[in-house]
Amino acid sequence: MTFSPFTVKTPASTANLGPGFDSIGLALPIYQKIDVQPYQQWKVSYEHEDFQDLPTDQSNLILQTINKVAAAAGTECPCAALTVSSEIPLSKGLGSSAAAISAGVSIANRLMDLGLTEDEQIRLASDIEGHPDNVSASIAGGLTVSRYADREVTTVSIPVGGFSVVIMAPEAELATKKSRGVLPDQLPYRDAVLSSAAANVMVAAFAAKDFYKAGQVMMKDSFHEPFRENFFPDLTDIKKDACHAGAFAVTISGAGPCISIFTEDTHISTVVDRLSEKYSSYQLLTLKPVNQGTLITEHQSNRLSV
Ligand code: HSE
Repeated sequence: MTFSPFTVKTPASTANLGPGFDSIGLALPIYQKIDVQPYQQWKVSYEHEDFQDLPTDQSNLILQTINKVAAAAGTECPCAALTVSSEIPLSKGLGSSAAAISAGVSIANRLMDLGLTEDEQIRLASDIEGHPDNVSASIAGGLTVSRYADREVTTVSIPVGGFSVVIMAPEAELATKKSRGVLPDQLPYRDAVLSSAAANVMVAAFAAKDFYKAGQVMMKDSFHEPFRENFFPDLTDIKKDACHAGAFAVTISGAGPCISIFTEDTHISTVVDRLSEKYSSYQLLTLKPVNQGTLITEHQSNRLSV
């Protein structure tokens, strides 16, 4: 079976946004692009040097995802050559594995003509990632709010705008597994109620574009940030400095190690100037959230139709 070549473009994401642990994600304009061409066997190659240590055999995450989707559909996927070019750094808390999984689901859907809806794609991707926050943002775009349990997922994507996220990337990497390893099995009932309320207010505030109120609750998380703070020695100071310079919230990006600074567009330069001056060992990247998720573009045909 053959198919016409196409490209899959998938955005990065920041997850949790404070109290939205394992539920809320936000798509960001750093992209992973995969060129998909018909080929007699599976072949994966990465264009950038930083990705050369990733496996390109059947243990590759994109390939594993395609195989899992094919197994779930009970069908075989036509082989392809996948050329991956990604701007999403690995193990930095910007959803690189979620982008790979999201793209894998999308490629499988296209190659096997499965007709999966966006919700079905998010469910399959969540099954593989284990939580829905990054994959939902990568697939649907915007601010995504999800509940995933017992292999069922409910996601709503809210288009957002009017603010930016300044990503502060330290040099060190932090494996998600290590960062999840410090989380407790149980949480006091009152802490859970209050964090859940904070997440609810945050979502409503983003929908209403009331960033001041979003900021009032985003730094009131009890689900994960307090347990992870040892991995983030500068976090308390960065929160103080960024908010003093006009940011409305500072959160750990996903499992870290990146830190996300949320700021209305009018304050970006003050915030960036303040942080880059004081925290010179971090790389800073200012990004406007994107409302477009994973996108497939068919390659232009070179053939002339007569
Ligand atoms: N919600 C996840 C976490 C995101 O914080 O561990 C990282 O994959």
